[in-house]
Amino acid sequence: MEDNSTFYIIYPLGLADFGLIELKKKWAMHFSESPLEILSVDEGGILINVKTLQGFALNHILKSPTRILIRFAEFKAKDFPKLFNKISKLPWKSFMIGATPEVEASATNSKLFDSRKIEKALKDGILEQYRKQPVKKKYLDHFEVNKQAEDLPTVYYRAVDDVITISLDTTGELLHKRGEKIFTGLAPIRESLASLLLTALTKNIEQDSYTLIDPMSGSGTFLIEAHDAYKINFDRTFSYQHFPLWIDYAQKKQFSDSLVSSENTQFDNYYGFEINDDVIMLAVKNTANKKIQIKKADLLKSESRIAGNNLVIINPPYGIRVGDKSDINPEFYKKVITKIRDLYAPVRLGIIIPDEHRMSFQGSEMVARIPFKNGGLPVTFFILK
Ligand SMILES: C[S@@+](CC[C@H](N)C(=O)[O-])C[C@H]1O[C@@H](n2cnc3c(N)ncnc32)[C@H](O)[C@@H]1O
Repeated sequence: MEDNSTFYIIYPLGLADFGLIELKKKWAMHFSESPLEILSVDEGGILINVKTLQGFALNHILKSPTRILIRFAEFKAKDFPKLFNKISKLPWKSFMIGATPEVEASATNSKLFDSRKIEKALKDGILEQYRKQPVKKKYLDHFEVNKQAEDLPTVYYRAVDDVITISLDTTGELLHKRGEKIFTGLAPIRESLASLLLTALTKNIEQDSYTLIDPMSGSGTFLIEAHDAYKINFDRTFSYQHFPLWIDYAQKKQFSDSLVSSENTQFDNYYGFEINDDVIMLAVKNTANKKIQIKKADLLKSESRIAGNNLVIINPPYGIRVGDKSDINPEFYKKVITKIRDLYAPVRLGIIIPDEHRMSFQGSEMVARIPFKNGGLPVTFFILK
């Protein structure tokens, strides 16, 4: 575990730059004594070389990735016998407990593209290694106990121009599953996306002591993600916990003791407002024991002002995603923005607007525009002054 490994941290397409901000900040908080070697950043993720144990720990620390893969081979292959041969010689022993893994395959401009044949070559190669170097009984026992688990590691095969990378998932269920029981209202935003958008909203404003306001807070995702941004996640399991490398690791307690949660000092107050009584009840359950206040209010009719150093983040209803579309149009978004400025005079206002409305803002009032997909729908997160 003291050795280094290469990890690929996956993000929603186009948002890896904000993931990098979180990664650097939290690396400095938790691992300042060791180097974070960033090998590349592309549209879909960040490739890093770090101590193997630290790579596993990132699952507990980071809030914005989709998942984290450990990458252990990169080679050229243009035929299946060569692929099988390469696979049968990889160091599966440290990572596999005798299971025949699921395979996720993707190929671009490569001779080997038939996903069924790729899957077969991978599985056969791994089984060949099990035959030559039988898996130890203690790992087979671990498999027996956990064989129904959802998070047994999946192998990721990616081929681009016949260069094949083989990785193994360290995460399991997607990272946005925080483990804590969360009740969701209509069209909630994924926790990992909420975390990335919060990073975008607060980019380059280092000062602490803001009030975060979500005027259409639904089940409270933005507020919870901001409040728990530095909470270490021990509320769920991860795929790496099924690797022999981890099963044999003697210092698990020291590992968990070394990862300590801290409070998010960027915000002093968290206020959510919501129009729907049923959703408010869920939000109140979700935010019990947190410094978050959720109250009933119709943003467009409210007269309750909040003075101070405010940041506002809002994901208004989408029409297509929440039913009736008729009232959701550019005029609606303009009214929402005017009302927010009137009530809260925010330092920054981050708002998600579907691209179908073709909204645009003057350069002078806009800090950033960040296009992404929310539940498959093309949307833009506008950050306004
Ligand atoms: C797309 S959802 C936001 C989801 C939220 N970000 C979450 O993750 O749960 C929009 C929310 O705005 C609420 N809403 C709609 N119109 C409102 C209004 N005029 N004032 C306050 N809330 C409103 C809806 O009830 C819904 O919960």
